[in-house]
Amino acid sequence: METFKHKTAFVTGAASGIGLALSKALVAEGANVVMSDINLLNLKTVAAAINAPDKTATVACNVADHTSVMQAADFAMARFGNIHMLFNNAGVSLGGASGKIAAKDWRWIVDINLMGVIYGTEVFLPLMQSHGEGGHIINTASMAGHFTTALMAPYNATKFAVVGYSESIRQELEGSDIGITILCPTWVKSNIYNAPALRPSMDDTDEDFTQTPTYHLSKHLIDNGMSAEDFASLSLGAIRQNRFYVFNDPAARVAIDARRDHILADYDACLAEIKT
Ligand SMILES: NC(=O)c1ccc[n+]([C@@H]2O[C@H](COP(=O)([O-])OP(=O)(O)OC[C@H]3O[C@@H](n4cnc5c(N)ncnc54)[C@H](O)[C@@H]3O)[C@@H](O)[C@H]2O)c1
Repeated sequence: METFKHKTAFVTGAASGIGLALSKALVAEGANVVMSDINLLNLKTVAAAINAPDKTATVACNVADHTSVMQAADFAMARFGNIHMLFNNAGVSLGGASGKIAAKDWRWIVDINLMGVIYGTEVFLPLMQSHGEGGHIINTASMAGHFTTALMAPYNATKFAVVGYSESIRQELEGSDIGITILCPTWVKSNIYNAPALRPSMDDTDEDFTQTPTYHLSKHLIDNGMSAEDFASLSLGAIRQNRFYVFNDPAARVAIDARRDHILADYDACLAEIKT
């Protein structure tokens, strides 16, 4: 997609962080932006601050709820007509020791981080294919979709799934007028360190999440990360060039090498056993 001018984008998780920065950057580039989020109050506040009522619209949308996504798509088309860009961006984070993570917390993160991306794509892709004006799907995965860290299994599992899902769709869309990009950020300034406090099992505990080491460590890393504005600018540049992966952390490159080397070493060990 060479230009965003007069194109319409639908952004999930637009009330904060990366989704908000993407929305602002798209408006600055002349796009119409339907900003959606589960938190309508925050969404309306930040959208009012963008102060571009002709180019923006807000709608409540819970990406974990297929009906909610369909209703938001209807709203978006009624407001601006054809949708050309879908940003499946909404997400939450969750870690913890495996064996001690509540089933309902697993369900929560899978429904938002994975099913949210799937529902968005299932609803908007056919709309893009039928209007014939071309389009682009942008899925926010994470660097955590390429390498893992201990105690982050729920987040790693969902983000690896988003990477695999997007890589498969990329092959389906090859040669069509619809592109796809996956955003794989490491530490971008946002409010995602608050997300685990919204997990369902918080209702069963008196824990003050803001006093936990997890909260302090992730807040520190995110507060010292790249600005969401810089990451949005990097992302729009990649979409313009129809590039697939977007990374922002020079230090994390070695982790991809290490994972690949480990896979290939075990692969070769298996092949050696098969031959003998
Ligand atoms: N910030 C980082 O360092 C970082 C790194 C890697 C990946 N990511 C990914 O970037 C994306 C955006 O996160 P962020 O860092 O801007 O966090 P953020 O918390 O600042 O913003 C996330 C937004 O998503 C919304 N949201 C949460 N659940 C939702 C739901 N069910 N339906 C609709 N909206 C919902 C929240 O209300 C919030 O406005 C996420 O997918 C996240 O996993 C972020």
